[in-house]
Amino acid sequence: PAPGWTADTDVVVIGSGIAGLVTALRCRPHGRVLLVTKALLDAGSTRWAQGGIAAALAADDDPGEHLADTLTAGVGLCDEAAVRVLVTEGPDAVRRLIELGAQFDRAADGSIALTREGGHRRRRIAHAGGDATGAEISRALRAALKDADIEVVEHALVLDLLKDAAGRAAGVTLHVMGEGQPGGVGAVRARAVVLATGGLGQVFSATTNPDVSTGDGVALALRAGAEVTDLEFVQFHPTVLWLGDGARGQQPLVSEAVRGEGAHLVDASGTRFMVGRHELAELAPRDVVAKGIMSRMRETGEPHMLLDGRHLGARMWERRFPTILAACRDRGIDPVTEPIPVVPAAHYASGGVRTDLFGRTSVPGLYACGEVACTGVHGANRLASNSLLEGLVFAERIAAALPGDLGAAAGEPEPPRGAQGLVHPDARAEIQRIMTAYAGVLRAADGLAAAARELARLAATAPARAAEPGVAAWEATNLLTVASAIVAAAGRRTETRGSHWREDHPDRDDDAWRGHLVTRLADGGL
Ligand code: SIN
Repeated sequence: PAPGWTADTDVVVIGSGIAGLVTALRCRPHGRVLLVTKALLDAGSTRWAQGGIAAALAADDDPGEHLADTLTAGVGLCDEAAVRVLVTEGPDAVRRLIELGAQFDRAADGSIALTREGGHRRRRIAHAGGDATGAEISRALRAALKDADIEVVEHALVLDLLKDAAGRAAGVTLHVMGEGQPGGVGAVRARAVVLATGGLGQVFSATTNPDVSTGDGVALALRAGAEVTDLEFVQFHPTVLWLGDGARGQQPLVSEAVRGEGAHLVDASGTRFMVGRHELAELAPRDVVAKGIMSRMRETGEPHMLLDGRHLGARMWERRFPTILAACRDRGIDPVTEPIPVVPAAHYASGGVRTDLFGRTSVPGLYACGEVACTGVHGANRLASNSLLEGLVFAERIAAALPGDLGAAAGEPEPPRGAQGLVHPDARAEIQRIMTAYAGVLRAADGLAAAARELARLAATAPARAAEPGVAAWEATNLLTVASAIVAAAGRRTETRGSHWREDHPDRDDDAWRGHLVTRLADGGL
């Protein structure tokens, strides 16, 4: 649709998790900033983050050890330069976050309390409110935003990137809902566009992600011709609370920090099945634990495994894990007296819109930060609690690069191209069914081919079933684009690595596959 209104700014930031909020705050000294978010400011994934933010803050730790653990978890596909940036700049970035107002839990001696999670050989996870780290970070950043003279538009879905005649990012089109704001489709003209739209977990039926995580940024980037990479590496969190077979939508997370504090994974007979599968047992990297759980469920025919944290005691549960304790008790399970039924669920996109070390994508003037981006720090499997850190560190780097980059101002935006045909909102559930059946933790060629066929059928019938161009139709359209891209990449990578588990190619193949798959949309095809 043609824009009905226009607005002008220097930098438009799309998204309001840690990546978007920090980018907006740090870019403000360099020009006018407009922050756009699809729902309310705190509706994205950041506020759901439990375990914490990883950084080498302890006396017995150093960035080199954090680097080594991150590279190990990433199974040969991390960009070492990007990881070095993450781990060396991380500790000071966390200290600056504290200066902005974030309050982390403290040990008895006043130092920042640190816990462990899967794949970390040291205690290096800072947390807040016990298991409400993301909520505290979001609170502090939203408070800082109030004093920062940054214009905020809530309830605005980003549609497409505007480019000038030279192909440089020149703004975005938006669909704005809500009262007191210009409604309908409009255009924001900007000299720089920052995507901080978060993840894509809603392509699967069961996920830890909130409803808004529909891959909007990756879909926009693909439509804009930007390079997207590593999409096959969708990480499944090993432990969400099992709510019965067929549970759909956002699932309650049971943080890895519960295992970090000593809880055990057991099957119905009480056997600790991770012991012997990896030297770190329950604290192996996340992909290893998710696969361990899935394998044990298959071996035993049980619908879930159990997380036994009874020995942590009531005081530990109440003080360290109040959010998880409440979520379990709300569903009639008391972790103090009984093990928690758990299963894996879609959690995090390790891939995304490819960037350099300053968040620049392959389209000049377009940046990406946080889960939507692929900076190279995660490789084939993100190390626990590196995601908040990545959003924080690379937001600051985008702001550092911006003054130099803004010299090349965008020209007049060309009319938006937009999606070819919007998908009916009903397609969302169908996409989730297809992805869960064929492209989840366990994948194989025939299932992926079936997924590709079924998604192509949906795409072919989409224009005929076109809906009103509202948010639900745009979200379904974005989900279909992203699901198709994941399936294409997963079908091509004929090996098992990190969170990409091919049952028909069970081994890692370094000769053929120690590289990245780059996805581009050309003439409507992947
Ligand atoms: C968790 O608390 O287990 C999630 C941490 C993460 O995804 O990094």
